[in-house]
Amino acid sequence: MTANLKKAELHCHLEGAVPPALTLSQARKYNVDTDAFLRDGTYVWHDFTSFLAAYDAVAALFRSEDDYALLTETYLDELAAAGAIYSELFVSPDHAETVGLGADRYMAGIGRGIEAARARTGIECRMVVVGLRHRGPERVEWAARYAASCGNPFVTGFNMAGEERVGAVADYARAFAIARDAGLSITVHAGELCGASSVRDALDILRPARIGHGVRAIEDAELVARLAGDGIVLEVCPGSNIALGVFADLTAPPLRRLHAAGVKVTLNSDDPPFFGTSLQREYETASRVMGFTDAELNEMTRTAIEAAFVDERTRADLL
Ligand code: ADE
Ligand code: ZN
Repeated sequence: MTANLKKAELHCHLEGAVPPALTLSQARKYNVDTDAFLRDGTYVWHDFTSFLAAYDAVAALFRSEDDYALLTETYLDELAAAGAIYSELFVSPDHAETVGLGADRYMAGIGRGIEAARARTGIECRMVVVGLRHRGPERVEWAARYAASCGNPFVTGFNMAGEERVGAVADYARAFAIARDAGLSITVHAGELCGASSVRDALDILRPARIGHGVRAIEDAELVARLAGDGIVLEVCPGSNIALGVFADLTAPPLRRLHAAGVKVTLNSDDPPFFGTSLQREYETASRVMGFTDAELNEMTRTAIEAAFVDERTRADLL
């Protein structure tokens, strides 16, 4: 039973964490038909491209500061109830621009949700601003400049998500330099839809502390040794990998092999209701299907807190 274990999550996209019931109530509020992306309480998509389309359609139902406060609070309350003491949320100001809300009000709403959830449950949370790769280098640089200058105390990191098969990592180097120069910590999606070379490029060019997914590093033994040697932390999302067809079934994600090779790994839900998962379910699967002991799962939670983008005082409080 993993329900009683303390947990921490480093990799969850806020707009990917909308429970279908909340999507339905937002759709009623704005009089939007959801049939194209939500049927019988389940999000409808069949590959990464249609997943992104469904994800964008859900994001477009959040149009005010209050909407984002409600979403953030809803997710963090549920996470805290599952035993989580820390959450790092990936937020995309691009979505706020798309609906005309504006990045500042978007961030203010999320910040309010974080404060409300913390007051009620004690859960600690930080925001990692995400640039969307498929929107191109200029847009990702815009997100980096926004993250660097917004002055929101919850923003501690910068990331790039989206369609990994678009462009080369080097095209995005300037965005990451902007974020790093502003003192933000760096993580990046790599080694999910693309193979080991995408992880190597990310390490060489962007010098992240962590990699989102990174699991396809397993295709290259030398790279696995490099990840272990350099102490790079992988934000592993097994349920997401199965749902998106990166691996065939839950025995296939290389969490065990990466862990055995000395790579620092953590457990994460990515876009939980889209992928039929939750952080609790990820811990449970790691226990029951992959055979991790409670001690090993506790070590993963500790790894997440050690790799969290927080100040040292907060880290000490969490440990
Ligand atoms: N954005 C939301 N979920 C994602 C994923 N699994 N990979 C890349 N970008 C994403
Ligand atoms: Zn992700």
